Amino acid sequence: MDEKRIIAVVGATGAQGSGLCRAILNDRSGEFRVRALTRNPGSDKAKELARLGAEVVAADVDDGKSLEKAFRGAYGAFCVTFFWEHFSPEKEYAHASAMARAAKRAGVKHVIWSTLEDTRKWVPLSDDRMPTLMGKYKVPHFDAKGEADRVFTDLGLPVTFLPTSFYWENLIYFGMGPKRGADGKLEITFPMGDKKLPGVAAEDIGRCAYAIFKKGNEFIGKTVGIAGEHLSGAQMAKALTKALGQEVRYKDMPPEVYRSLGFPGADDLGNMFQFKRDFESVFCGARNVGVARSLNPSLQTFEDWLAVTKDQIPIEKDSRRAAGE
Ligand SMILES: NC(=O)c1ccc[n+]([C@@H]2O[C@H](COP(=O)([O-])OP(=O)(O)OC[C@H]3O[C@@H](n4cnc5c(N)ncnc54)[C@H](OP(=O)(O)O)[C@@H]3O)[C@@H](O)[C@H]2O)c1
Repeated sequence: MDEKRIIAVVGATGAQGSGLCRAILNDRSGEFRVRALTRNPGSDKAKELARLGAEVVAADVDDGKSLEKAFRGAYGAFCVTFFWEHFSPEKEYAHASAMARAAKRAGVKHVIWSTLEDTRKWVPLSDDRMPTLMGKYKVPHFDAKGEADRVFTDLGLPVTFLPTSFYWENLIYFGMGPKRGADGKLEITFPMGDKKLPGVAAEDIGRCAYAIFKKGNEFIGKTVGIAGEHLSGAQMAKALTKALGQEVRYKDMPPEVYRSLGFPGADDLGNMFQFKRDFESVFCGARNVGVARSLNPSLQTFEDWLAVTKDQIPIEKDSRRAAGE
């Protein structure tokens, strides 16, 4: 009989959850085994997890019963929500609550909730430095996560809160990589002034979560904010210049201009960057690189991450050069 304790992972085929699955699967002599939750056990990503040794089960965060069934018998549950699938803070809150209730009913012994700040604690709705969005949020994809923290606490769950950081993968998959400026030079644009942005390699979130499960009681009831490095836009541009072998500049932009860029979620992200800029010491202070490294000694710096991923960062061709200018 397999004596290993089960960790049920929500979002197992996604960025955070898959990192946790791999961390558990790679530790063959470890005390845990992984139960990967997915809406579609037949997908390529789910089949790959099964091939690596995960137990793959169907569950949907819209269906509390499926969550409870998937959490039953598990020692641990990793809970994450998917704001960018639906852009609804209310749904995100409902999904977090459904996971918390399912964990309670299933008797899970350790829950990790991947959360972010409710920014309204620092920027109340009456503060007009940034617009109120969707009627009652400042940073919708943060605020509902932070608001949901209480659901885990109120249910008396053995929970560790895990505030995460900006994934550097956003430079690859989220349209935040270098773009050509008017003069054809590459630039990264964040409305952060000279303030520091805590960032992380997405894979390292799962590795830190795994270490938190391994340490068990030490982290129950605690908040453990993690980052790989805190870097200003200028420092990120310098590292990109070195890795890509061509100049990348940092372009600061007023948050109000960023909010009006017109892509879905631009207003939410404009407010998010402004919050990180205006409350740099709070936000960076809540994400401790030393703690993250002590949990996960292979924690990557931005330079480490770039060394592995630089060829995946989409770089627009210099049309001026292509046109022979
Ligand atoms: N991007 C960043 O810099 C950043 C930083 C910090 C926090 N976050 C937060 O991270 C969260 C997303 O996590 P992620 O990046 O790990 O996700 P992700 O890579 O976008 O993966 C989403 C996964 O969620 C699963 N999923 C979607 N809807 C589901 C549902 N109804 N029921 C069950 N599973 C569902 C999908 O799995 P299946 O298709 O297999 O079901 C998918 O693989 C967001 O809330 C975001 O705000 C992002």
